[in-house]
Amino acid sequence: MGSRIVGTGRATPRTLLSNNDMRRLVDTSDEWIRTRTGIGTRFLIRSDESLVEIAAEASCRALERAGLKASALDAIVVGTVSSDYAFPSFACQLQHRMGLDLIPAFDVSAACSGFIYAVSVADSAMRAAEYSRVLVVGADALSTMLDWADRRTSVLFGDGAGAIVMVSEPGPSGVLGSLLRSSGQYWNLLSVKATGVRCTVDAEQRRAPGDAIQMRGPELFRIAVRCMEEVTRSVVERAGLQLEDVSLVIPHQANLRIINAVAERLGLSPDKVFTNVERYGNTSAASVPIALDEALEQNRIHAGDVLLLNACGGGLTWGANLVRW
Ligand code: ACO
Repeated sequence: MGSRIVGTGRATPRTLLSNNDMRRLVDTSDEWIRTRTGIGTRFLIRSDESLVEIAAEASCRALERAGLKASALDAIVVGTVSSDYAFPSFACQLQHRMGLDLIPAFDVSAACSGFIYAVSVADSAMRAAEYSRVLVVGADALSTMLDWADRRTSVLFGDGAGAIVMVSEPGPSGVLGSLLRSSGQYWNLLSVKATGVRCTVDAEQRRAPGDAIQMRGPELFRIAVRCMEEVTRSVVERAGLQLEDVSLVIPHQANLRIINAVAERLGLSPDKVFTNVERYGNTSAASVPIALDEALEQNRIHAGDVLLLNACGGGLTWGANLVRW
């Protein structure tokens, strides 16, 4: 028994900031941000908004497209590192917001790779016949953990949520395989302490710089490219396929230069790689499901296509899911 994705959805906060808007906060330029990262705009959560609400909106859209009622779900798995609470989990807050009860709801913490990890966890549980209809969400608001005065990090991140509904189903379509990797030795390339205020862009309170996101960008860049290339090759090989069989790669949207470098190493032409980092920035665990939803909307995915989803993020964590549509 395998699992198939039958609905997708996305939602963002209401405020869109351009690179020029960012110049009000830090000493930067549209030219620097675009050439180094490919980012043009990002959605940022405000103090009167809730990421759980945004995730619920994305989830309702995914359920609608799947033609299912929320009450049909039998598990919720959320990839996130952005819960306002250490506990209860984000997934439990989302469950309550969606009017559900009793079904298991839990978070998977793998930073930007959170959604890839969550899909793998859901797929494994479905193969074990534990659940048959699972809501998998990627939701993050890393902007709330930034030092707004740090131009090396504050221009990179955006907020949002993406959701998919997976159903267990025999047959040739669905998740063909997943591969997850972690390397704790690199924990300090990208980290944030679990302390400090929720510091939205409009909040008066500010995180102490030491409590904000710390990033060693150039090192992270090099390792991310290597990891994404390796995991992509390996997951395809393990499934007994070739890279040429992949119709579309939907990578984590951290940085256009990382995406292009990985594509180049893999020998993938640009039309085989979906990007939307220009509009969203790096939305962490939300980036792959948001991109998947947009790729579907843009008619880039057809029945029988082989999709490769991959990501790399703090931990370090990285991974890939191979899916036949
Ligand atoms: N605006 C203007 N100038 C800036 C900015 C900014 N926003 N940020 C940094 N600079 C300046 C620096 O101060 C530095 O100037 P200096 O040499 O006078 O000190 C210069 O630009 C170069 O800085 P670097 O940090 O060396 O720039 P680099 O070319 O490495 O690009 C970047 C930085 C974009 C962060 C790059 O290292 C990168 O993409 N790393 C990967 C990080 C990433 O994607 N993280 C997301 C999470 S991880 C993941 O999802 C895979």
